[in-house]
Amino acid sequence: MTEFVHVFQPPSTAGGPILLLLHGTGGNEHDLVPLAEMLLPGAGILSPRGKVLERGMPRFFRRLAEGVFDIEDLKQRAGNLADFIQAAAAEYGFDGSKVVALGYSNGANIASAVMLLRPGVLAGGVLLRAMVPLEPQPLPAIAGTRVCISNGEQDPTIPAAETDRLARLLQRAGADVEVNWQPAGHQLMPADFAVAKTWLQSW
Ligand code: MLT
Repeated sequence: MTEFVHVFQPPSTAGGPILLLLHGTGGNEHDLVPLAEMLLPGAGILSPRGKVLERGMPRFFRRLAEGVFDIEDLKQRAGNLADFIQAAAAEYGFDGSKVVALGYSNGANIASAVMLLRPGVLAGGVLLRAMVPLEPQPLPAIAGTRVCISNGEQDPTIPAAETDRLARLLQRAGADVEVNWQPAGHQLMPADFAVAKTWLQSW
């Protein structure tokens, strides 16, 4: 299997959904596990650790500056992560059509990159504090992919126009996109968890 250090927990019901947990910069594979267990109890969990190190902090792809991404690296690593998800489905025997991302910040950005570059690998995802990762030309067709964005109104790293651009990009590709605004900055708050829970449980 394409190697990522990761946590795997099978779903409580065979064939149940799998949450792909994608941490933010400086996080690891354990960070989002308690949150996932709270948001969708009984879901399977696949939680890889990003392989890029930025001054010792794990990430899922390289950036040149805050919010300025190394697009070639991003493309390669999104492909690598998609291969890992598919290999994990085969190895652990879960339903590869039921993988839903739960990503924060850098993790949200690699999640939408996988949706746009490898259609079909993710059924959808919750993108917390998400930016536009890249704009593939031509746009893929990802009708049926469901996305819940939850961003902060006062986030210094993600202007409102960036959130709108991400939502429109995914919608132009055919995704079903819901945007939620929180009275928050880049840090998460209870309202993020509330919208994520409602959205995940209504899948
Ligand atoms: C981060 O904090 O990681 C950035 O805001 C998002 C990114 O680099 O992908």
